[in-house]
Formats: sequence, C-alpha cells, structure tokens
Amino acid sequence: MGFDSADVGVGHMKYRTTEDIRSLFLDFFAQREHPRLPSHPLIPADDPTLLFVNAGMVQFKDAFTGRKEMSPPRATTSQKCLRVSGKHNDLENVGRTARHHTFFEMLGNFSFGDYFKEGAIQYAWEFLTDEKWIGLETENLWVTVHPDDEEARGIWRDVVGVRAERILDDPENFWSMGDTGPCGYCSEIHIDQGPELSGGKEVPFGEGGDRYLEIWNLVFMQYDRDGDGNLTPLPKPSIDTGMGLERIAAIVQGKQANYDIDLFSPIFRRIETLSGKTYAGAFASPENPLDPAVELDVAFRVIADHARTTVFLITDGIYPENEGRGYVLRRVMRRAIRFGRKLGLTEPFFATICAEVAMEMGGSYPELMRSRDVVQRVVHQEELRFGRTLADGLKLMESELSKLKAEGSSTLSGKTAFTLYDTHGFPIDLTRLIAAEAGVDVDEAGFETAMESQRARGRGSWKGNQEESAAIEELLGKGVFSTFVGYGETETESQIVALVVDGVQVESAKAGDKVEIILDKTPFYGESGGQVGDVGSLVGPGGAQLEVTDTVIRGGQLICHIAEVVQGVIGTDDVLSARIDTSARDATRRNHS
Ligand code: SER
Repeated sequence: MGFDSADVGVGHMKYRTTEDIRSLFLDFFAQREHPRLPSHPLIPADDPTLLFVNAGMVQFKDAFTGRKEMSPPRATTSQKCLRVSGKHNDLENVGRTARHHTFFEMLGNFSFGDYFKEGAIQYAWEFLTDEKWIGLETENLWVTVHPDDEEARGIWRDVVGVRAERILDDPENFWSMGDTGPCGYCSEIHIDQGPELSGGKEVPFGEGGDRYLEIWNLVFMQYDRDGDGNLTPLPKPSIDTGMGLERIAAIVQGKQANYDIDLFSPIFRRIETLSGKTYAGAFASPENPLDPAVELDVAFRVIADHARTTVFLITDGIYPENEGRGYVLRRVMRRAIRFGRKLGLTEPFFATICAEVAMEMGGSYPELMRSRDVVQRVVHQEELRFGRTLADGLKLMESELSKLKAEGSSTLSGKTAFTLYDTHGFPIDLTRLIAAEAGVDVDEAGFETAMESQRARGRGSWKGNQEESAAIEELLGKGVFSTFVGYGETETESQIVALVVDGVQVESAKAGDKVEIILDKTPFYGESGGQVGDVGSLVGPGGAQLEVTDTVIRGGQLICHIAEVVQGVIGTDDVLSARIDTSARDATRRNHS
C-alpha cells in the first residue's frame, strides 16, 4: 500500500471515498436480501444498561433475543456509534493514537435466526476480496477464531480456502455488548499492512504496532447473558458483524491513520484556517506517549473527533449538563475547548468546527442539517460559559502544579480538584489530563469526599425549608431577585437569571422541557395572596419559544415563570422577549372585581 492518488488503484483495489465505501457496503448487502435500515440515534431506546449506542447490533437486541420478529430476518446498517468510556474506550487516548475515536460509524450486516457462521464468513470474504467490491489481496489477510470454535475454523479453511497457518486462535474472541445481553463467539479478519509498519522487519502476527490490523468482527450470536453472568441460548443462532468505516476507509485510501482519511481533511483545514497552525499528522512513539513535539497534532485530532461527537449527540437530543449523558457531552466539549487553547484559539471556535462537521456529514445524515441552528447555539453557549472560567482555572492549575513541583510532590489534592470543578467548571478527567501532562496524579478519593460534603450541604439546606427546592434556596441564599415591571409594561427584553427543572438548576432547556425561569425583570405578575399569576409567552434567540402557564413567587422575592419549551433551546446566557397574554390578565381581573 502507501499510494496516495485519488484514482490510481494498487493490486485489485481501487481508491474510494469514505462515502463510496459506506454505499458500497450497504449495496452489497442490499443485493443479498438485507433491507438497508437507518442508523439508530446514539441514545439507546429503553436500555438503561447502556449509556450510548456502541455497536450496530444495539438496535436489534430484541430481535436477537426473540422478543421482536424481523421480516425479512436480515438487515444492514451504517450505525452511528459512541465509545467514550468503559470496556471499549478511554477518552484520554483519543487524539493520541491513530485509531481511537469517540464517535465513529460501524458498518454491519445482521441475520436474525437466518444464515449463521457460514453465510457471514462467506459474505465478509467476498466483500473484502472480490475486486467488484473492495478487492483486498487475500495474501494480506489473516483470521482469528475462538480456540473452541472448530466450526468457524473449518469454514475458513474448507469453505473459503484460507491456509490453516493464517487461521489463529484468540481466546478473547467472544463478543458482548455490555455486561448483559446477546453475545457469542466471534471471528475477526485482520490485514497485514506490510513490513514498513514494523520498522522494515518481519514480525509475528499481533506484533509490530498497527501492522496487523483488525478490520471486521463477525459475531456468532448464540447466548443471552443475564445480570448474574448466566448464558441462556438464544432462540435461534444469529449474526452481528461490525466493521469500522473510518478504519476500512484508511486501508482503502492507503493511509496509516484513520485521521488521514478524506472525512477528516475538511475539519482539519477549518482548524488550520482558524488557528494559523498546520496539521502535520504526527503521533508520539509508544516510548514517549506525551511527547510535546506532537501536541499540536493531538489537539487537531481531539478537536475534530470531539466536534463529531458534539454535533451528533446534540442532534440526538443531549445537551451539556452536570449529570448522566449530558455530562459526558460536557466533558468531551470542554476537553476540545481546552485543546483549542493549545492551538492559540482563545476566542470561541468550536461552534465553527461543529458547523463544518454538520456540512460534511449532512448528506449522509440529514438530521444534522435540521439541527444546525440548535447545535450552533448550544455549542456557543457552552464555549462562552466555559471560556469565562477556563483561563482562571488553568492559572490555578499552573500555580498548584508548580507548588507541587517545588515540594517534590506528585499528587494534586482532592480539594484543589474540587475547586477546579466547582468554581471553574473543570470536569475531573480534564483535571486528571492536565495533571498527567505534568506527571502528577490527582487525589480522586479526596475529590469524591469534597463532592460528597457539598451534596450533604445541599441536602441540609433542603431540609431546612421544606417549601422551596434546593435550587431556589440556593438562589435566595445568593440574594438573587427579580424586578416586577408589569404595572407599566406588558412586554420586556429580559435576561435569564436562572433555569430550574425539577428543583435543580440547569444551564439549558429544550423543546418539551418543563422549566421554571427567573428573569432579571418581568412584566409577569407572580401569584401571591390568592391572586392568579400571569400567563403568556417567552421568545428566545434562534426562534426558541416558551409558553408560560403560570407565574408564582417563591421565597417571597423570586418571580418564577412556569413554562414549557415549545420549540428550540434556551440557555442561561439568553435574553428573552417576555410578553404577557393581556387578554387572560384582563379576564382574571374581571373575575376578581
Ligand atoms: N458487535 C460487534 C462489534 O462491535 C460486531 O458488530 O465488534
């Protein structure tokens, strides 16, 4: 390999764009009676065991276990996947290696009790090696099977004709989606990318870094694993295969890193234009993983990868928050924004990169075009919010790190990590990451203790006054108040002071959310002493619309608009046009008089 031109083929393989490879795969299986189904959103439906969709089979879990009938019993997809933590990924590697991503696309074909090992193996081999399709040299391919899976070994050897010495045992060839769910033996196809990837030397399979690269995983779904680890046979043996699109594209395009494929180039070009720096595509050596010489390239890759995750997650309805999926998104966004600082990007830049991603991928995922405005606003707000505290946080971090150095210590205290989190909005893994760059650990147990005492303080204040939620108590404690201007005005431009959902302060709210909104000033009259509160509407930037169904006074001074977001997104930095429904107010007045 090692060719670089857009139209020159090597061997039987032809250069193809990532888009072409995606279509080619889906066409191949569509021609073989596999309906082409859309990618499921990144958020698993009704599956509390899984934070994000991490493989193509997730949307078919019930079909494998027999709870859902699929007709015809086959499918093919290109699935949006996210691997941010847990057994499949580690956020801290992303950007530092050639192939770790948080967001990626997985090509897959599925059989729900229809064909089994032989069908799956033959299809995969044909797609990869036939020159009508990908056209890889069979001489470069290796396969692995589970040591106990004689059936798969026999098919590779006797049906496909792979030489016995190219079929290797791998005891780890057992795939499961998570701790529970459908699972089974698997068999992997690997490519030997040649001696130039192992320093010109011949090395055995599995050695030499990326020389032998896994391309495709064929899972022979046979069991359902329960919470106690028991395996129950599935009603019918089934097939789940997964091939990372970015990885096969790198092979077809003759690139050594997934980040070098056509899909990433426009994103890098955009980062280059904004930063004035050039992407050189360099990686650290395994001996020196934090090599400062490649740090700018790491920053490019982190920003590009994280922008993809950000765009796709917000599109699928996740917003940066301090909990759950929203917190994963916030960590990813803040990691990217912080890496932007390394490229000298001190002004908000991330929204621009996200817009580039939406434009590039919008042809294949039309939902990205529909969500563009929302993504822009959410990203921009998060950048503004984090931008305010990032510089101070980094200063604190630097002074603490140099103090530690002077003391000869290599552990950052939990208390400092907590201040960085609480005051400066640094997710703990961002602190861990910056500390690690200086060879320093974080006292995470100490951090947890500080977090827990804050939670206990929160619960204490809640107990102190059963009438108001902790969020309202906190606002009252800070002396927040809102001014009623409704004697003279029925409409104002007002700054949001706080957003509260279910008694907890949040930083944004989206269509469908029921939220209490506190504004700096408002024409809405708050219910008190038996008088009914005003109703009306709030309109935010970018077409956000809210319906105010009641207004109440909390804690004697806070005018809270009880509202539902009808359309769009609002965030705590927004200015809203607040307008009361005067006809409703007049009608109420009449009833009172
Ligand atoms: N579920 C398997 C994997 O993720 C094959 O699709 O590797």
